[in-house]
Amino acid sequence: TITPVILSGGSGTRLWPMSTPEKPKQLLALTADETMLQLTAQRAAGETFGPPIVVANARHADEIEAQLAGVGLIEHKLILEPVARNTAPAIALAALAADEDAVLLVMPSDHVIADTPAFHAAIDAALPMVEQGWLVTFGIEPHAPETGYGWIHVGEAIGPRVHRVARFVEKPPRDRAEAMLAAGDHVWNGGIFLFRADAFLGALSVHAPDMLHAAQQALLKGETQGMRLHPDQDAFAASPSESVDYAVMEKAERVAVVPVSMGWSDLGSWDALHELSACDANGNACKGDVVAVETENCLVQADGVRVALVGVTDLIVVANGKDVLVMPRGRSQEVKKLIEAMKD
Ligand code: GDD
Ligand code: MG
Repeated sequence: TITPVILSGGSGTRLWPMSTPEKPKQLLALTADETMLQLTAQRAAGETFGPPIVVANARHADEIEAQLAGVGLIEHKLILEPVARNTAPAIALAALAADEDAVLLVMPSDHVIADTPAFHAAIDAALPMVEQGWLVTFGIEPHAPETGYGWIHVGEAIGPRVHRVARFVEKPPRDRAEAMLAAGDHVWNGGIFLFRADAFLGALSVHAPDMLHAAQQALLKGETQGMRLHPDQDAFAASPSESVDYAVMEKAERVAVVPVSMGWSDLGSWDALHELSACDANGNACKGDVVAVETENCLVQADGVRVALVGVTDLIVVANGKDVLVMPRGRSQEVKKLIEAMKD
């Protein structure tokens, strides 16, 4: 069986005001009745998969357990990070807590995958190389010169559907992204990985030994309470803070990619959510108590308040009873600016 590892440590500021440090994006229901975390867990449930390991910030423990129970996932491990050290140390904790010969499916908790059967087929295609110790990632067909993603130069085929990663380019500058898009031989890194726990730990011991040591010490000195693991704070804080992409995927020897078309979206902004939403005849995607008259192409979310619009087009309006966000469509990346401005 495959052990799902769900990374739930992000703070998701770009979907403010719905997403907050107390309740980040992955803990919200944005595309369905289920939350992003619940959808992620359900995507890797069934015969092929064992109980998941969720790695998250300690402050979200109760909420995560309630959400997993809500979709019937009673059996799981919850690794609670005392401090955030980015994805590589988080995955190291999971790999150490799993069986040595376990195959780990590492998944961000906040992505949309519309076509689950296609996802499962890609996993099946990756498995033979994973058994041989390769670190496999899943590649998404790019449609824009995105600078917020990792890009992968797809190399020679090494098995059915599986290619060697010729080169990994994490978060390139704009001109480089444009060139890679034009070249046509690159895919986006979906941020979803499949590897044996021992293969990952082996790569870590070569490329980030300090990180491996810190994660080992954190678990050794930490505490276990039922299904909850509490790594030791000082030991874990000593780890370098680095993403798995920089710490391992860019440097390791045997890294492969399975290109897959599965309706993937990072759901990183209100505009991305609007694009994915089922809209009414006027192009509006409304959620909650919304009244829209002569209104077109708007995304409107009302939580705990009523929002009424008349005679407007191409707006994003999000209100939750405490905060109200209003901006034109196409500018949702600028929520980051608002977060900064509100700090002052
Ligand atoms: N447990 C834990 N601890 N989870 C974390 C931490 C942490 O310290 N930091 C991030 N995460 C979780 C996030 O919640 C998210 O689900 C996932 O790990 C990926 O982290 P992001 O911060 O969202 O990464 P990114 O978007 O900058 O880049 C990654 O994803 C892109 C695709 O969305 C990279 O893998 C890119 O190469 C990739 O293209
Ligand atoms: Mg992300």
